[in-house]
Amino acid sequence: MTRISGFYNLPQPERARKVAELTQLDPASLAALDGSAGLTAEQADHMIENVIGTHNLPLGVAVNFLVNGREVLVPMAIEEPSVVAGASFMAKLARAGGGFHTSSSEPQMIGQMQIVDLVDVYSARLALLEQKSRILEIANGIDPIIVKLGGGARDFEVRIIEDSPIGKFLVLHLIYDTRDAMGANAINTATEKLSPLVEEITGGRVHLRILSNLADRRTARARATFLTSELAFEGYTGEQVRDGIIAAWAFAAADPYRAATHNKGIMNGVDAVVLATGNDWRAIEAGAHAYAARSGRYTSLSTWRKDAQGNLVGTLEMPMAVGTVGGATRVHPTARAALKLMQVQSARELAEIITAVGLAQNVAALRALATEGIQRGHMSLHARQVAVAAGAVGNEIEAVARQLVSDKTVRIDHAEQVLARMRG
Ligand code: MEV
Repeated sequence: MTRISGFYNLPQPERARKVAELTQLDPASLAALDGSAGLTAEQADHMIENVIGTHNLPLGVAVNFLVNGREVLVPMAIEEPSVVAGASFMAKLARAGGGFHTSSSEPQMIGQMQIVDLVDVYSARLALLEQKSRILEIANGIDPIIVKLGGGARDFEVRIIEDSPIGKFLVLHLIYDTRDAMGANAINTATEKLSPLVEEITGGRVHLRILSNLADRRTARARATFLTSELAFEGYTGEQVRDGIIAAWAFAAADPYRAATHNKGIMNGVDAVVLATGNDWRAIEAGAHAYAARSGRYTSLSTWRKDAQGNLVGTLEMPMAVGTVGGATRVHPTARAALKLMQVQSARELAEIITAVGLAQNVAALRALATEGIQRGHMSLHARQVAVAAGAVGNEIEAVARQLVSDKTVRIDHAEQVLARMRG
């Protein structure tokens, strides 16, 4: 599979067929992706409470992604225009620099146990550490399946919280390798089951037992080089675009108000793939922003610098607790088909691709912001949504959208006037 030229111009059903053909998707998976089948209300009824139906989002496919030398088509579920196009465009520019290079840590999650009512936190901490191998052995007896798959309890740390509104207490961090599962259930079960033992050893009381979404031991990393020559467009030289992107990043690196928006741009890409694959995007959001503030000051998750040859190099490292087994990734037919489409072999590979998309999305936004501004590219896509909101149907949608863009007035009242004129 090479770059799919003209993918954008294909009619929607043909796009779906093309993707299925390229990835050898079975008909049931194709149906789950192209809108003809998908999550039924009956299936949904087994997922959450008080179900009355389902809620759809557009599902796009980002093209041009080369990740560690492998071509990947990336499913993205998102309501915002420009995101899929932005990621695909920057993935195309990244190819001349070798595409995205990714890596990841072992999939280790942290389970937290809050130990209170201790007479002496210092000696209780050491008592726990003295029994480390016994505690880990018992922890590994809790879920034999995950252990058989190569995961399980790896280690634990005991932190002393010196100063809190309830005084001193201990926090035990159980480090648990969850392999291809997101792992919330495995971790939460392990911490709950270990509580009596921890209470026996410390003489205290285990209060909360829950995973931490600051999954800083389960990170994924992506790096990409953009040749300066690839960055030039219209009236901008490659050097101007490169330096503009670096200055935009410097703003986010130095200022939390900008960093929040900068990171939101990263999360536009990240969340869309997380959602498409049935993963918990609130967990990913929580982890991302806590990680961005880990130094005590909230900052950019990515970096943008120039290399010795003067090319633009971007990096992104962030927590990425996603799974390819269990939970909605298995139950939701569209999530299952989305995972098949990506042809990923493990949760780590999925995490790495998601991080590459986050990096691509980030540079797409910075490139636009540092040059012509975000609105030009955004407006033509946004105009279609405004046209639909004004009541345009079929061919009217494109025609109204074009008129709104050429009038440089993408507003619902104007769209209604244009539509009335067209019809009248
Ligand atoms: C909009 O959804 C995302 C951006 O605001 C990101 C950014 O400012 O870097 C364009």
